[in-house]
Amino acid sequence: MIIDPNNLSPRETYAYLSGAVAPRPICFASTVDAEGNVNLSPFSFFNVVSGDPPLLAFSPLLSGRDGSPKDTLNNVRAVPEVTINIVNHAIVEQMSLTSTAYPSGVNEFEKAALTQVQGEVVKPPLVAESPVSFECKVDQILTLGDGPMGGSLIIARVVRIHVHKDLFDEQGVMDIRALDLVGRMGGADYIRAIPEALFEIPKPVRSLGIGIDGLPPYIRNSTVLTGNNLGRLGNVERLPTAEEISKLAGNPGVKEALTGGLEQRHRLAQAYLERGETELALTVLMA
Ligand SMILES: Cc1cc2nc3c(=O)[nH]c(=O)nc-3n(C[C@H](O)[C@H](O)[C@H](O)COP(=O)(O)O)c2cc1C
Repeated sequence: MIIDPNNLSPRETYAYLSGAVAPRPICFASTVDAEGNVNLSPFSFFNVVSGDPPLLAFSPLLSGRDGSPKDTLNNVRAVPEVTINIVNHAIVEQMSLTSTAYPSGVNEFEKAALTQVQGEVVKPPLVAESPVSFECKVDQILTLGDGPMGGSLIIARVVRIHVHKDLFDEQGVMDIRALDLVGRMGGADYIRAIPEALFEIPKPVRSLGIGIDGLPPYIRNSTVLTGNNLGRLGNVERLPTAEEISKLAGNPGVKEALTGGLEQRHRLAQAYLERGETELALTVLMA
């Protein structure tokens, strides 16, 4: 189906955008108004957009009902500072509560029983319960639309990074798996980055893979191997030599597969690929 957004209402278009562009990270943006009243709201139209300068960006939309701006947008226009606090599973329900449309001037830290901590540089407080928080100065505010659901991209420059001390391993490196992050899906759905949900892909930037087009046609056109299997094979820097193949072909599991049919071979290669044994997979395929 091909859809022209011109034929949809902004709400209908939004459902496709926010449903398909997911999971999205969630930030808690803390801001203050000109009188110093504190505001805290979650945003999932949020990401890192530059490493140097270190920039984060998020987008409060104008109200879908009447096009009015959110307190966060009004606040950063009055006081161009924000703290961006990462949301993990331990605070996801409190985060959701802070998205309630309380009247301006209501402090959502209090509504959600979250702890305010003053940073070093900016006025808006940090969320003590967040595993990682960023003190930021607002760099730019881009108005992307001026009607209901129009976005405003707030680009914020990170001036301090706060990381909870329990998150460092013995080498002093931040353990990103310990963050227990959550993401926003479409509608009311969320996702939790539990260890069972994580998987690794060897980084292609470290090597110059031959590409799927560099694989022999009898592998590339396999009816067993999937696009993911071929993607992993295409990441090898070169195909094994005949000598290397005959060495590995002595491996008992491989030997047995070589006596079977083509499909059996490809299935064994697939099993090796799923265990991360790319070399053995290629041997089975090429022997
Ligand atoms: C997980 C989550 C993500 C959200 N992301 C956004 C977003 O990216 N942009 C937006 O305009 N509203 C978003 N909202 C809704 C705002 O948080 C909500 O409108 C909030 O009341 C705005 O508060 P404020 O008026 O105090 O700034 C999100 C809500 C939740 C629960």
